[in-house]
Amino acid sequence: DPHPIAVIVGSLRKGSYNRLVAQALIQLAQPALQLRLLEIGKLPLYNQDLEGGDLTPPQPWTDFREALRPMHGVIFVTPEYNRGVPAALKNAIDVGSRPYGAAAWTGKPAAIISASPGAMGGFGANHQLRQSLVFLDMPPLQQPECYLSHIDKAFGPDGQLGDERLRGLLQKLLRTFEHWVECHHGH
Ligand code: FNR
Repeated sequence: DPHPIAVIVGSLRKGSYNRLVAQALIQLAQPALQLRLLEIGKLPLYNQDLEGGDLTPPQPWTDFREALRPMHGVIFVTPEYNRGVPAALKNAIDVGSRPYGAAAWTGKPAAIISASPGAMGGFGANHQLRQSLVFLDMPPLQQPECYLSHIDKAFGPDGQLGDERLRGLLQKLLRTFEHWVECHHGH
């Protein structure tokens, strides 16, 4: 059976380059990986006052956690905001990490892609995100590293990936990630 893999995009804007990268990944994925976009834009900001005890947590939190739980892995595709992880993505990480002791992320292998029109390819966000994955016990794929610079030049007007080298890199990441998921799933 194919491995269900969540793809989470750290940008909320419609024309997002990171979303285009995520869509390219979905098109390129081999049959062994079943990639699904998990949306994070409607998650209320995490607030500990909204759950615990007799409280029913906000429905979007519960839906997100339940969508995440059966996944065998997670691929993050994110921009960098002020050299760090965009707030929307950090919020999704926090929402999925609770209730304490029952995080929906635990043990899932992860891959991180960062993309920017700039020259550094979102390196800062990419590595800041890795810091949270340590605590969440999500083994992060190390290679190939994917800091996608000048991403505004990679797509044609139709939104299709025109950059052959980038396509090769994404295919390599997908193949390596399949192996990574096989290594960790059920262990
Ligand atoms: C940015 N941008 C940006 N780019 C970068 O390479 N490093 C950075 O630290 C920042 N900081 C930053 C902060 C904020 C608040 C915004 C709105 C933008 C530019 C960013 O890379 C660019 O807008 C991308 O196009 C965002 O990714 P999406 O939305 O195209 O996926």
